[in-house]
Amino acid sequence: MNARHEPDTETAQQADASLVDDVRRGLTRHPRTLPPRWLYDDHGSALFDEITRLPEYYPFTAEHSILQAHADEIVTASGATTLVELGSGTSEKTRLLLDAFTSTGQLARFAPVDVSEATLRSAAEQIAGTYPGLEVVPVVGDFTLHLAQLPQGGRRMVAFLGGTIGNLYLEERKAFLGALADLLQPGDSLLLGTDLVKSADRLIAAYDDSQGVTEAFIRNSLTVLNRELGGDFDQAGFSYIPFWDAHMERMDMRLRSEVPQRITLPGADLVLDLAVGEELRVEISTKFRVSKIAAELETAGLAVARVWTDEPGEFALTLAVKS
Ligand code: SAH
Ligand code: AVI
Repeated sequence: MNARHEPDTETAQQADASLVDDVRRGLTRHPRTLPPRWLYDDHGSALFDEITRLPEYYPFTAEHSILQAHADEIVTASGATTLVELGSGTSEKTRLLLDAFTSTGQLARFAPVDVSEATLRSAAEQIAGTYPGLEVVPVVGDFTLHLAQLPQGGRRMVAFLGGTIGNLYLEERKAFLGALADLLQPGDSLLLGTDLVKSADRLIAAYDDSQGVTEAFIRNSLTVLNRELGGDFDQAGFSYIPFWDAHMERMDMRLRSEVPQRITLPGADLVLDLAVGEELRVEISTKFRVSKIAAELETAGLAVARVWTDEPGEFALTLAVKS
């Protein structure tokens, strides 16, 4: 049973309206779901950074190796004078693109966009220090809501790396790619990083690592809800359930209620009664086939110009141009 009333508590008035909206919508449907952006408070961003250094977490290394091998071609093919990066995080791999842009001398502006403000600002400051002469314009924002805030003018390449597009559901990807394509000018491009379908064993190892960092990252969602909405989630009442959904071709990361429990979230004026075995779906991570990426991009009005993969074919970088 779920109870919902009009917001009348002090916490509700103080909580981020989009978090309240997301929680009310997501946690009252089945399976109960949370949008992934709420995983990235300062602690979540630090945990993600730790994940990228895990031996099991191949996507970071795979995408890094593609950029190492092909950044020069990407930069030249884009012809960009402005690089926008969505969900930039620490922008670590992006430095390979910035180095290539430095060699051609074509880049005037770098605009990283992220919801995780401290991580964004610190990365932007470090990049401004490394690349003097580059105008660095950090934008704190949600790439599903605030694309209109992207800098205008010049030839733009929008980099969306890491496979983060796979954390969106199909309908969300469609809306996101459509909105992005609408904002781009002819000749602007999207450089899209996507993780590719591979064996279930390799995938599960990457999302259920032996040090438990991914579990801590997923569990951090409950800590965020407790802090932001005055919630009373008890971590001990949940177990971490990551699994490969072969039909949807996505990893699915859930927290399962191990006891019957009532959760109150005063900031969202929400009470959840969870039965034993009920699951909260905290994150999905969709894996792609090259044909599926092309189809989604073309539907949005973006024409695939080039696709690069790493040697084992685990990850793809696609450059698509607005015509
Ligand atoms: N691009 C980096 C980081 C990927 S982690 C890499 O490839 O390693 C995903 C990043 O997206 C995080 O920094 C997170 O804060 C950000 N993010 C997640 N959802 C977002 C949203 N809706 N809007 C903006 N940034 C978001
Ligand atoms: C940011 N995103 C692409 C990561 C992924 O692989 O889906 C987030 C992550 N979740 C668990 N591990 C990493």
